[in-house]
Amino acid sequence: MSKSRDFLGRYRLARLIRIGSTAEVWEAIDENSSDNKRYALKVLRESCSADKAEIGLLKHEYNVGKALSSPRIIKMIDLQTDKGRPFLVLELFSELNMKQALRKGPESLAFMLKKIIEQAAEGLYYMHTKNWIHRDIKPDNYLVARDGETKLIDFTIAEPKLTGIKKLFYKSKTVQGTRSYMAPEQIRGKLCDERSDVYSFGCVLFELTTGKPPYTGQTPNDLLSKHLSGSIPSPIVYNDNVTPEFATLIKKMMAKKQEDRPDSVWEFLKEFRAMEIWRKRPRAPEVSVFDDMGSMKSADDMIKRPDGNYDVVKGGDKDKNKEAGE
Ligand SMILES: Nc1ncnc2c1ncn2[C@@H]1O[C@H](COP(=O)(O)OP(=O)(O)O)[C@@H](O)[C@H]1O
Ligand SMILES: [Mg+2]
Repeated sequence: MSKSRDFLGRYRLARLIRIGSTAEVWEAIDENSSDNKRYALKVLRESCSADKAEIGLLKHEYNVGKALSSPRIIKMIDLQTDKGRPFLVLELFSELNMKQALRKGPESLAFMLKKIIEQAAEGLYYMHTKNWIHRDIKPDNYLVARDGETKLIDFTIAEPKLTGIKKLFYKSKTVQGTRSYMAPEQIRGKLCDERSDVYSFGCVLFELTTGKPPYTGQTPNDLLSKHLSGSIPSPIVYNDNVTPEFATLIKKMMAKKQEDRPDSVWEFLKEFRAMEIWRKRPRAPEVSVFDDMGSMKSADDMIKRPDGNYDVVKGGDKDKNKEAGE
């Protein structure tokens, strides 16, 4: 690897964490810092690096992230461009997102789920107190560490919460979000508020307890129609170790109408803190999902294709672009 290709700005690219449809996320080292500090760089892929809309989204993500300061939310450090590649500099945290941590089933996290859910909810609640609606709450957008510490990421489609007269002037826009977790009003392009995130968070809780999202569909439209009008499944059907109280709370969060859900994440947290998730306390699995990191690659495992994108030589990230079909 040539030295210049190895660097973006002052950061040496050490390991490709993940490739999405528009961005690559790298672990990078600031070799100028005395302690060789590590960061995560979210870099627009070469094929998108001159795309004004994508650059706009990256800037938007920077601006939202800069306005937030909480241990439950990933820290936004900088927005830079080098060699024509715009990129975000972020606090580096954890090896796994929640979706990856669930790959081996809900047992991987079950024994520390109280902490994970509490911290995940605190991150979202904090965002709402700063008047931002996340709009893409899903397991891929939470990072989880092996001790259960959890942080919220990815503010690409976050929007300010509209209040008062501004609500009246709301015009519906192109629908954005991830199908498996989208609230009915978001699917319909209507005004979203914190209860839309509560809905998506309910879907995340369903997946954390059962290992699967609440709805799947033969086609994208089939999946969306289940969010709009399908009956609300109980997590107990898939995991009878979930307490009835928690199952009822999850179902309430997934109510079709905003007014039937908890009013805020704070309301959720108050109820959640007073209840048990499990009937029988789960044990930690013998092999932690955090020790099974076969798919992680160093930068040296990558080859660059003529189009400028990277191929992962051995294995690869099986989840890549998966959400596009979800
Ligand atoms: N700060 C970070 N530290 C460690 N891993 C991260 C960080 N930010 C993102 N990732 C990893 O990269 C993935 C994609 O990042 P994300 O910001 O969600 O991009 P996208 O907009 O492509 O969904 C995450 O699911 C996570 O696995
Ligand atoms: Mg994401």
